[in-house]
Formats: sequence, structure tokens, C-alpha cells
Amino acid sequence: MAGILGNRAIFWSFIVLATSVIYRTYIHNFIFLTLGIGREIQPIEDFPWTCTRISHSLLEGCEDLWLDEQDRKLYAACNNLNSRKGWSPGGSLYNISARSRTDHIAVIDVDQPGSNGLYGLCHLNIGGYQDDLDLHGFDVRKVDGRLRFWLINHRPPVDHVTGEFLEALVVGANSTVEIFDLDETSNTLGHFKTVASEAILTPNGLAVEEDGLGFVVTNDHNTKTGTFRGLEMLSGGGSLAYCRSDTGKCHIAADKGLSIPNGIAHDKNGYYYVANSGSGDITVHKLVNKELIMVESINTGYPMDNLWLDADGNLIAAAFPDTIAFVKSSVDPYNVFAPATVLMINEIAEQLKTSGKNVKVTKLAEDRDANSLPSSTVAVHDMKGHKLFLAGIFSPFITICEQRPK
Ligand SMILES: *[C@@H]1O[C@H](CO)[C@@H](O)[C@H](O)[C@H]1NC(C)=O
Ligand SMILES: *[C@@H]1O[C@H](CO)[C@@H](O)[C@H](O)[C@H]1NC(C)=O
Repeated sequence: MAGILGNRAIFWSFIVLATSVIYRTYIHNFIFLTLGIGREIQPIEDFPWTCTRISHSLLEGCEDLWLDEQDRKLYAACNNLNSRKGWSPGGSLYNISARSRTDHIAVIDVDQPGSNGLYGLCHLNIGGYQDDLDLHGFDVRKVDGRLRFWLINHRPPVDHVTGEFLEALVVGANSTVEIFDLDETSNTLGHFKTVASEAILTPNGLAVEEDGLGFVVTNDHNTKTGTFRGLEMLSGGGSLAYCRSDTGKCHIAADKGLSIPNGIAHDKNGYYYVANSGSGDITVHKLVNKELIMVESINTGYPMDNLWLDADGNLIAAAFPDTIAFVKSSVDPYNVFAPATVLMINEIAEQLKTSGKNVKVTKLAEDRDANSLPSSTVAVHDMKGHKLFLAGIFSPFITICEQRPK
């Protein structure tokens, strides 16, 4: 009798334990992080910014931005929203016929709004490569006096014998990194190299090292397609690939403790910061013996997309305070705009030294009512110009915010 009771008690305590582990690891995260139940979202008026939307067909669907703070230009990786809605392999959208083949890098002069308020908007010429670009995250470095662009490219898969498209829903996108050099006199990107590797599986964000050779790509999932891909939002997954621009070789350098690694930034001290959309963590990595070991993990409590490290070493993250609204905006991007949050960790490298994982995460801006910010996937902080630039993969406009004098 006692033995049976004992076994039952053990059985039930096991069930209770298992349930609480599942609750804590998966369900709790889903309710409070992904759905954001109980999260306070503030209106834009609470923050010291005056924000203006800039609408133009060249500024639709800009997933990522890069600011040239010295030369006062902002570069954006954009494409029209109907194309994004059909073909966005990162969001498991694989309709090849929806591709508009109009992916481009848009450029604005951040200090010169001009009489039409479009900041001298134009796009870079890409010549023969135009048909072969399906843009997502990117990074830029000055190499030998020129700007070099590393662009994630999600081309559809092609049968190399027949030249026909393969079934993308089954095999996924043929994702690569394309390296281009900018000729500023002709505003033209010249193709330098394609980096294709099995380690570049489901690339999302990219960050280049100071020397312009090494770069790291975040793979937001463990597989290109398949039934269990969607569950990685709950269970975690994804990896970091370390690549060299000179040899074109890549390897997986981290695949533990990540949860939909998305945006990534690299600092002068050799640290990589990775935004994990599934866990709300910013993980901090350092390259040791070809591995990107995790030296710290900071919980922000928000699902995040791209990261930006500003000139003062502040880390800026575009976050989703209301994921449901963001998903709705992805379905009807011209009419539905989602609330946006911009998080900031002041002088992150300094804070990590003194406080470890207990660094202070603050809000730089937030737009509860989606009045002026886009459904943002990227936020860039301009120290010099006291501005904020925001854009989104499912937004028909970008927003420029100017800091109000105190
Ligand atoms: C794919 O996109 C094309 C072009 O926009 C559209 O006509 C077609 O209905 C889409 N297919 C599916 C399955 O959504
Ligand atoms: C993928 O892209 C690479 C680089 O352009 C190319 O060599 C390869 O044939 C492509 N593979 C498929 C399946 O499309």
C-alpha cells in the first residue's frame, strides 16, 4: 500500500514539476513576452521627439537601415509591400510569383529635407544584379575609402540543370550574402563577391568586424522550411555563422542558448550583441577559437528585431510591444500600423563591465497608438544630428524623429 501511494505521489509530483517547467520555459514566455499581456505601452507624447512620416514607393518595406554618420546619409534595404507579403522567407512566406524584383537600397541626405520633404531620396544602381536581389538585413564598412555593403539575399532556389524554380515551400530560399562596393560618383553598387555556404541557412541580420573581413550572420531558425519551424518561437533555436569575406568560407560558431536570433551589432572591443526575438534576450558573444562563446545574456522582456550601436556605444533595439498587432500589420501593411518600442542600453560595454547582466534597459521612444512610428523592424540613433530613423519590413513609410530641445 505504502509503496503504491509512494509511487503515485512520485508520479504526480513528476507531472506537476514537468508542467511547471513547460509553463515557465514555454507558456509563460509566450503569454508575457510574445503576447505582451500586462505590458504598459506609452504614447509617443511621453518622449522628447518630434516625428515625421516620409512616404514614398522607394521607402516601402525597408527591413534594415544603416547610417553614415560622417557623410550624413542613410541607406535602407527596401521593397514594395505586396512583394514582401508574398516572398519573405524569414517569415515563412514562399510565393515566388509575388516577387516584384524591385528590391533596392534607398538613400536619403539626413540633414537636407529639401522643398519636397523627401531628403534628396534616390536609390543605388545595381546594374545586372537587380533581378537577383531579395533583401533583408545588411551592414556597411568603409574599406579602402569606399563603402562596402554586405547584403543578405534570399533568392528563390533554382534547378541548375533546367534553370526552373524549385518548390520554395519545400526546399526554402537559396540565401546568400552579396558583397558590393559603392562608387559614389555614379551612385552604383558594383558586385564584388557572393558568399554561399551551408552555414548561411536562414540569415536575418549581419554584422561586419572592424577590419571589414570577418562577419557574423544570424540564422533565425534551425531549418529553412518544415512543420516544426513555427514552434521555434516557443522552443528556441537558431545559430550564428562566422564568415570571412576574403576566403568566402563560413562555419557555425554558436548554436546553443539562442532563440530566433535576429538583429546583430558588433563593437570595437570585439563583442557581438544579438537580439533574440523568441526569448527577449540580448546575448553577448566573443570570438574565441573560432567559436562565438556567450559571455552574457540580458533579458529585456521584449521581442526584438534589428540592433544599432550608436557613436557613443549605446545599443538601440527595435522592439515589438504588441506582436499580435505586428502580425496584423504584416497581413494588411498599407492600412494597419503596429505600436513600436525603441529600447536603449546606455554605453552597453561599460555597463556590462560594472553590472553584468543587470544592465539598465530604458525606452528611447514608444508609440502606443501607432500614430507616427512605422511597425518598426529597425531603429537607428544619430548622435551627431540628434535624430532617430525608423523603418519596417511591413511599413509603407519610414519615420524621422528630431529631438526637441530640453
Ligand atoms: C502568389 O502571388 C501571385 C502574384 O501576386 C498571386 O496571384 C497568387 O494568388 C499568390 N499565390 C498564393 C498561393 O497566395
Ligand atoms: C544558390 O546560389 C548559389 C550562388 O549564387 C548558386 O551557385 C547555386 O546554384 C544556387 N542554388 C540553388 C539551388 O538555387
